[in-house]
Amino acid sequence: MQSSDRSDAIKPFYVMEAVRAAQELEAAGHEILHLEVGQPSTKAPKLVREAAHAALDNNVLGYTMPHGIPELRDGIAGWYDIRYGLDVDPGRIIVTPGASGSCAVAFLSLFDVGDRVGVIEAGYPCYRNDLAVLGIDVVSIPVGPETNYKPTPAILEAHGRLDGLVVASPSNPTGTVLNQAELTELSDWAEAAGTHLIVDEIYHGITYDKPAPSALGLENPNVTVFNSFSKYWSMTGWRLGWIVVPTGLFDPFERVLANLLISAPTLSQIGGVAALEAVDECEANVARYAENRAILLEGLPKAGIDQIAPPDGAFYVWADIGHLLGSHNCANSQELCRRWLEDIGVAATPGIDFDLARGDRFVRFSYAGDAGQITTAVERLTSWCQRTT
Ligand SMILES: Cc1ncc(COP(=O)(O)O)c(C=O)c1O
Repeated sequence: MQSSDRSDAIKPFYVMEAVRAAQELEAAGHEILHLEVGQPSTKAPKLVREAAHAALDNNVLGYTMPHGIPELRDGIAGWYDIRYGLDVDPGRIIVTPGASGSCAVAFLSLFDVGDRVGVIEAGYPCYRNDLAVLGIDVVSIPVGPETNYKPTPAILEAHGRLDGLVVASPSNPTGTVLNQAELTELSDWAEAAGTHLIVDEIYHGITYDKPAPSALGLENPNVTVFNSFSKYWSMTGWRLGWIVVPTGLFDPFERVLANLLISAPTLSQIGGVAALEAVDECEANVARYAENRAILLEGLPKAGIDQIAPPDGAFYVWADIGHLLGSHNCANSQELCRRWLEDIGVAATPGIDFDLARGDRFVRFSYAGDAGQITTAVERLTSWCQRTT
């Protein structure tokens, strides 16, 4: 028996391979400094854990309506009011099993086989891989230092007609944030071009200078916005997120979710309601990321790693390490990351996942982890990079 051509064609999620390589060495007794993992190292907030304990004892925890429990939809709408001053109708919100679930539901609801959908490179790899497995034509849109690693209408124009465009702000892996003017430009361009604009706001709340504006503040009712409890709320394993659906498209989105997934995990939805109250704990995590970020931004240039995207949000530094390859006999960033792992126990993620064309010369450092580990990693990288071989 054979698997489908589509599933054979889907690329591995290489980030997870980097995580696995680090874990294997760790299991073999090596000390590993983790700058590869793209997730918080903290538990879900205390309020969430308490709510979940109580629900386990008192609640049947059966299926919910496909769009989620009313308390959570109302809570999310309230969150937009408190954090952004935006009036979002809870009736537009569909609760999902994480932003990954949001991607699958949005892509299936908006696009047909053969449609052309743009993804930003460097960008989150699963957009490209999910779209491809659905038979959608993926159009890679490279961005670089010329535009601070952000897409602009002029760049988009060069790629022909697009049925859809997926952007993340803050972005993984670059950390760049689209400001209000940039979001508005993209939205105007998408409206004029008849392109579905999908904005992934999973790293909202994790910014260091000013908050990231939500695409829900745009005067464009056709934008699809999604978010998740994974990052700001430190709940990756709870598999909980949401979509704010464009005007008039609620029914198709809900039909797709209901048939594909029935509903998001009920226990997690109850936890999600409590998470929205756990601001102090979440902000303390962001303060910790800010300290970690400062360690990297001060230390990496001393190691000679100074060509980086503006790290405005999320918890990543996206660095061009092309200049280190030749002097250290490495063919590409995969080899460089393997050498760092084996020589000095520093785990970072090679760029290949995020940028098919140029990822060979980029590395992503995550600073979601422990400050002590990040400090030691920077010291070791500095002495390693100063050696030539
Ligand atoms: C930009 C981006 N979108 C979506 C996801 C998927 O997140 P979730 O855990 O909510 O499925 C991730 C995970 O790292 C991500 O970085």
